[in-house]
Amino acid sequence: MQKVAIVTGGSSGIGKSLVLKYANEGYAVVFTGRNGDRMAQVATELGERPFLALELDASDKDDNEKMVDETMKKFGRVDVLVCNAGISMRALFEDVELEVFKQLMDINFYGAIYATKYALPHLLESKGTIIAVSSINGWRSTPARTAYSSSKFAMQGFFEALRTEVMTRGVHVLVVCPGFTSSNIRNVALTADGKAQGESPRDEKKMMSSDEVAERTYQAAKKKKRDLILTFQGKMAVFLNKVIPSRLDNMIYNMMKKEPDNPLK
Ligand SMILES: NC(=O)c1ccc[n+]([C@@H]2O[C@H](COP(=O)([O-])OP(=O)(O)OC[C@H]3O[C@@H](n4cnc5c(N)ncnc54)[C@H](OP(=O)(O)O)[C@@H]3O)[C@@H](O)[C@H]2O)c1
Repeated sequence: MQKVAIVTGGSSGIGKSLVLKYANEGYAVVFTGRNGDRMAQVATELGERPFLALELDASDKDDNEKMVDETMKKFGRVDVLVCNAGISMRALFEDVELEVFKQLMDINFYGAIYATKYALPHLLESKGTIIAVSSINGWRSTPARTAYSSSKFAMQGFFEALRTEVMTRGVHVLVVCPGFTSSNIRNVALTADGKAQGESPRDEKKMMSSDEVAERTYQAAKKKKRDLILTFQGKMAVFLNKVIPSRLDNMIYNMMKKEPDNPLK
């Protein structure tokens, strides 16, 4: 029986690379997103391989139910759920509109909760895998990313608890924390009033590729790893945050202050 992987936010970046990786490994893939043009591009790259592309909003509870229902109708099982859909932000908390803050939590956190809620019965049946795409910001927050960091800390709290609820019943939970990864995320990151910032403030060419994140994620899931923390800088941030958190406050402030047009004072 062919295995089935669902990837939320599969139209670009890490999610798109994961869709292609799971398809190359012989899975039927289901992916969601809101941008029809980018989804059509992924569909073209998938060609004749079995897939289902669903234009759905990750932050909508009913859309997540539909995602799982449509998967069951077409493929009859769920073996892997990747909670990947996410957006970022760049604004000081004192400036950011609360609606923007809520939007981040709705997509990044509640999106993962809804998808997991509806897929879990099928994952318990298949003894499948849940992959939560968090961030180094799920271990260590950065300034001007309060909503983003909050959403990733919340995700990690949720999946840590869920892991211990399902581990005796054959469901594996992997939390992936990418460091800076080349993708579309910084182009569409929201500013204080909810508009996309339009351009990445960092050199995307110097970052880990989305394909490498997908490859490392696939291998970590196969080996039933608990956590995957990526990039040397990311590993250092997690380590230094444990041993010298207040020095890291200064280091992170100085690093983020170097970004062009940063809102830090
Ligand atoms: N890139 C990094 O440096 C980095 C670092 C750490 C963690 N991450 C995490 O990696 C994940 C993927 O991000 P990425 O870097 O690959 O960014 P990306 O290229 O912008 O991709 C984000 C994906 O999420 C989808 N998405 C966003 N909002 C959605 C919504 N409301 N409903 C459905 N789909 C939605 C987007 O699809 P549409 O545009 O079609 O809606 C897109 O497919 C995120 O959870 C992010 O937090 C990224």
